[in-house]
Amino acid sequence: MIFSDDFVFGGATAAYQIEGAATEGGRGKSIWDVFSHTEGRVVNGDTGDVAIDHYHRFKDDVALMAELGFKAYRYSVSWPRIQPDGTGKALEAGLDFYSRLTDELLGAGIDPWITLYHWDLPQALQDAGGWPNRDTAQRFADFSAIVHEHLGDRVKHWITLNEPFVSSFVGYAAGRHAPGLRDPQAALKSVHHLLLGHGLALQALRAQNVADIGITLNLYSVQAASDSAVDTDAARRVDGFQNRLFLDPVLKGRYPQDMLHDTAEFGWLPAVQEGDLELISAPIDLLGVNYYTKYLITGDPEHPDLVGERTGQLDSPYPGAAHAREVRHGKPLTDIGWEIDPDGLHDVLTRLKREYPAVPLVITENGAAFDDELSEDGAVHDQRRVDYVREHLAACARAIEDGVPLKGYFLWSVFDNFEWAEGYAKRFGAVHVDYQTQVRTPKDSALWYSRTMRSRSLDQ
Ligand code: NOJ
Repeated sequence: MIFSDDFVFGGATAAYQIEGAATEGGRGKSIWDVFSHTEGRVVNGDTGDVAIDHYHRFKDDVALMAELGFKAYRYSVSWPRIQPDGTGKALEAGLDFYSRLTDELLGAGIDPWITLYHWDLPQALQDAGGWPNRDTAQRFADFSAIVHEHLGDRVKHWITLNEPFVSSFVGYAAGRHAPGLRDPQAALKSVHHLLLGHGLALQALRAQNVADIGITLNLYSVQAASDSAVDTDAARRVDGFQNRLFLDPVLKGRYPQDMLHDTAEFGWLPAVQEGDLELISAPIDLLGVNYYTKYLITGDPEHPDLVGERTGQLDSPYPGAAHAREVRHGKPLTDIGWEIDPDGLHDVLTRLKREYPAVPLVITENGAAFDDELSEDGAVHDQRRVDYVREHLAACARAIEDGVPLKGYFLWSVFDNFEWAEGYAKRFGAVHVDYQTQVRTPKDSALWYSRTMRSRSLDQ
């Protein structure tokens, strides 16, 4: 299987997960600084204070990526590094950091892809109401305009939001992510205001002539465990929350009717004002897809293979969908407990082609957490990650053969990093990081991916 010359191979990270330097250059606090410093929120009490110290080591990190043959890199901009309180004048030190990082990438022959929001909302904006507050959407658009104004001459690929499902439902309904609230109405308002923020940022960047911009959604293949009415209805709801609630407004200009019906009791609908959906559905140049796993869903609390409430790694149910539960379908698991199902990626991609208006697609994240260890020979033999990535790339190749306009693939992640509520315990990197010494060691998967990126072939 050969990928064409214009297929983009890259790797992805996010600011809070790698940068560290949490107080340098006047950086303000984000909701993740506050959340991770709150006892009991993150495994082992880990925080992103130091992370992999990328802020100080970015030159070496870029050199290592270049050596491995990366030609594209997706990274995010920390909002409180640019605007400590989420509004007003930008900090020179913050802009300068991303400017130097971008120049370093370009100098190394790596194409920069920027994510504008990867979950680190300035705490001051959370104190003013956070994403349930409509004004946050405008603040985000202003921030986006500042970043593009400074980097748009060199950065050609832009992603507004990363996984608004997680920002809204995991942060405001389940409380497992910052800001740690459990309020269904707040979560649903957040969905709308995040999407509005996307629309307003899109408008602001179009005014600055951006030509390649989109949004990244975490999408799942969702199937019912049986064709019983109770299972198919549970699967419909999960598909609604995970996929359609975000895809439909962005690509079709409307929220799905069944979801509006199911969630009306939470009183969030007045948040949707006239003209919002036009902004939200303005044309994008790419849809970013993050894919990790597939969900098999039952509505039956007595199902023998039940593994728990299927609530998108939520501790509490989706609003109005208390009877959706996940069952295992016997596939191997990664060490974060997610089933490995590359066919699900093919399902997601072909479904987008079938059910939505045509838009170029990019896998902006795909990868796996395994409990990697440095061996005595100094290497990390992560064969399971090699297999995971190879099989998912093969699913991409099949989708392309089936006519899906898939333009690229970014591995999550280049380096081991701070895995949010899981802290440093879960390693997603192709490059191993020793958190004591900050020594980087490319794992076998990095070497394999390097050969794959160079040869554009899975048959090596
Ligand atoms: C989704 C997120 O975008 C990223 O930040 C996270 O580390 C990975 N998936 C793995 O959970």
